[in-house]
Amino acid sequence: MDHFLYRDGILHAEDVPLSQIAAAVGTPFYCYSTATFTRHFRLFDEALEGMPHLVCYAMKANSNQAILTLMANLGAGVDVVSGGEYARARAAGFEGDKIVFSGVGKTRDEMRTALAGGIRQFNLESEPEMRVLDQVARAMGVVAPVTVRVNPDVDAKTHEKIATGKSENKFGIPIAKAREVYAEIATLEGLRVVGIDVHIGSQLTDLEPYRLAYRKVAELTDVLRADGHAIERLDLGGGLGIPYERSNDAPPLPVEYGAMVREELGHLNAEIEIEPGRLIAGNSGVLVTEVIYLKEGEGRDFLIVDAAMNDLIRPSMYAAHHDIVSVVEPAAGADPATYDVVGPVCESGDTFAKQRVMAQSGPGDLIAFRSAGAYGAVMASEYNSRPLVPEVLVSGDQFAVIRPRPSFDEMINRDRVPEWL
Ligand code: LLP
Repeated sequence: MDHFLYRDGILHAEDVPLSQIAAAVGTPFYCYSTATFTRHFRLFDEALEGMPHLVCYAMKANSNQAILTLMANLGAGVDVVSGGEYARARAAGFEGDKIVFSGVGKTRDEMRTALAGGIRQFNLESEPEMRVLDQVARAMGVVAPVTVRVNPDVDAKTHEKIATGKSENKFGIPIAKAREVYAEIATLEGLRVVGIDVHIGSQLTDLEPYRLAYRKVAELTDVLRADGHAIERLDLGGGLGIPYERSNDAPPLPVEYGAMVREELGHLNAEIEIEPGRLIAGNSGVLVTEVIYLKEGEGRDFLIVDAAMNDLIRPSMYAAHHDIVSVVEPAAGADPATYDVVGPVCESGDTFAKQRVMAQSGPGDLIAFRSAGAYGAVMASEYNSRPLVPEVLVSGDQFAVIRPRPSFDEMINRDRVPEWL
């Protein structure tokens, strides 16, 4: 459930009409709902009730400082994958012991920053990385808490670009090799084992791949404990999918996911960490855009809108579906229309939807792409010199611009022209 509903014939974010925000900030813009973010975080927190746990929001999904502050205030932990994300997390008030550092290519600098600033754990992804972290930690006179991300070789049954748990993916250490790697860690003075990590992919719509992976993690926990390693935490990654199409079967709910975690891992008395991003952020945001033209083509009509692939790249990058709705509620019984919904960027890939059956629309109308709160603004670029679109956060009847739209001058003045030109 989210808090984007029609009221008095206008799509609202909580108590604010999206048309009011459009009038204030212009289009396109991202709009997020505080109540929806909060609700989604709590669903996970409650799903793991009874087990020691920490929900570490995967901030790559949406890393605006206002969203991070909201998450920190709710008591979340955070999963970061770069020095920049680490800096954002700290700036938003996350204490070091709530920050988990994931990613296959952590640099020495990033390791030093996190060790100096405080870190809950590093999720190690390779042996070379393990040895470098040991060196860095020892040089600083500290001991780095670590887990090893194991690759369980299960098929997450999701889009190939976001599946990460098969042996051909670049992620983690093959689970069959884990024992050997943990044995080496035990000999390294700069590292201290705290648990095991696994993440098999994103937008998972079935619990079975998770179950298979977690079963392997449970077996490994027993083996590693018997070998003498302190497996106190199990980081289970993120990836639970969201309903992008309201008309389709809904993916499993956090409460069902939590029950499965309890079944597979509850007996191990380990602290459970999870790293959800999309489920917390995805349906907490929409991208609102204005129709510029209705262009009648040969055999198809194009709805040309003022948002483009640079603002929301998921449809062009993953052929992702986003529901498209009118901000003004269509009259009951009104005939729908069929459009190709496209942006102004000079590429055919700048297509949000092909042959989409939706409410009739024309120039000046506002429409909203739903489920755009995750991997939307964070993946935007200024391609075609289109300034990043603003982000707005609603809470009840108030809204605030949480990232303003840069002016053309601000965009241009980031570049430097050498004097010798
Ligand atoms: N933990 C790790 C180690 C991850 O790599 C990811 C996502 C997550 C947690 C969070 O997964 P989530 O709960 O959000 O599914 N840009 C793509 C999604 C990429 C996901 C990358 N890793 C998209 O727009 O679909």
